[in-house]
Parts: sequence; structure tokens; C-alpha cells
Amino acid sequence: MIGIFDSGSGGLTVLKAIRDVLPSCDVLYFGDIKNAPYGPKSREELANLTIDAIKLLHERGARNIVSACNSVSASLAVSLLDAFDITPAQLIEMVGPTVAAFKGSDARILLCATEATIQSAIYQSAFRMIGKNITTLAIPELAGAIEFGAPEEQLQKIITEAFAGLNPNDFDILILGCTHYPLVLDLFKKSLPESLALFDPALAVAERAQKQFWPQEAGNSKTHFVISKDSVQFRNLVAKLFPDTQATIEVLQ
Ligand code: DGL
Repeated sequence: MIGIFDSGSGGLTVLKAIRDVLPSCDVLYFGDIKNAPYGPKSREELANLTIDAIKLLHERGARNIVSACNSVSASLAVSLLDAFDITPAQLIEMVGPTVAAFKGSDARILLCATEATIQSAIYQSAFRMIGKNITTLAIPELAGAIEFGAPEEQLQKIITEAFAGLNPNDFDILILGCTHYPLVLDLFKKSLPESLALFDPALAVAERAQKQFWPQEAGNSKTHFVISKDSVQFRNLVAKLFPDTQATIEVLQ
């Protein structure tokens, strides 16, 4: 069983991409809505939440883990793998597959993400390893606003204002470095010129999952969601994104 976690609904975009390439795998998804959004949290808080999430997935039998949350990528240290007896082959996070997709590319990259992701400098460092400098843009309020169902006009305003200080024509590609952002892909498109290509890392992560977890993860297509706080938005999104899936949703007590 594959364990996937995020602060809430964002990881559903990653789950959807994984379902497309591994339709028969069994998935346990943890959305930590009680503690969402993760973006404004300190490194120490995120490290603790990451430990709790992996512990929960592990205790319930998930052996392969996908961290579908960019904001905790910096917390996935080697010591943590040791503590849980997880090998690098059993863990996939967002940054590695995303950056690997741009090896050899000369595209001018802009990456937008939560403040935790940008402040951790994990993308900036990883891109430097492949010889690329990128420009970053934190959009502090966006993930929380998406998670808690803010009206479309408010979301559009947050996006438009975030890009106000930049010239989008200086870039070829915008990486959506927060898994919540693809949920409002159309709003990004409305605020930005067509010439700026939008890159959703979910596909690269799903391809990595297929490579690392298949055929070991051939299962019965079961999906079980565990959320730390009940949420109508989350339930609606699950119904919308996975209409054919027999999924169960459990709220942690
Ligand atoms: N979706 C997560 C990410 O990719 C977390 C966003 C948040 O909770 O602030 O960073």
C-alpha cells in the first residue's frame, strides 16, 4: 500500500496523477487539515508534523510513502528515514522528480510556492545542482485560501497581486511548487500570459512512483482517506476528482 500525505487537499492532485499510472495500487491518503496550512509554519513544526504523518501511514501498513507536500520536503532528512526504517527507494518527495525533469533545459524558470518551501531554499539548491538558477515567488495566503474554500474572486486577487511585481515575459516556465496550486490552474491561466507554460510536478512524481513502486504495488485499487479534521471542501473534491473510485473517508478522533 502506498501512503500519501499533505496538509489537506493539495496532495489529491498528486494522487490523481499516481492513479493514472498505477490504477491498481492501494492508497492510504492522509490530509492533515487540522494543521493546514503548512506554508506559514516553522521548520521545527513542519518536521514534527512530517514525523506524525509518516508514523500514521506506517502504523496503518503503508510501506511506500509519497510526500505530496512541497512545504515539508526539507524535513525529509536521512535521520527520519532511519527512524522509520524507510529506504530512499520507499520514499518519494516533490523536489527531486521536479528538478530532474529540467535537466539539460535552458528554460527560464519561475517557481511559485508557499513561504516555507521558498524559505527552505530546497528548490533553489536542487536547481543549482543541475547548473540552473531559478527565480522564486512565495504566495503566502493561497494554499490556505484554497484549502478552506475561499471564493474564486478572492483566489484570483491573491494570484494576480502575487505576480504584480514580476514581468512574466522574463520566464518560459512557471513551476507550481505547491500541490494546492493545480487545483486552481484556470485562475493561474487567467492571470498570466499564454506564453508562460505552467508545469505541474504531479506527473513527474507519478512517473517516479511507477518506476519505484511497480510491480510491488499491484493491488486492488483501494483508496482510503484519513483526515485530521472533517471538511466539506475535501469531501467534495474527492467526489469530483475520483468519481469512479470506491473511496472511504475517515476523520481522526
Ligand atoms: N500543498 C502543500 C505544498 O505543496 C502545503 C500547502 C500548505 O498547506 O500551505 O506545499
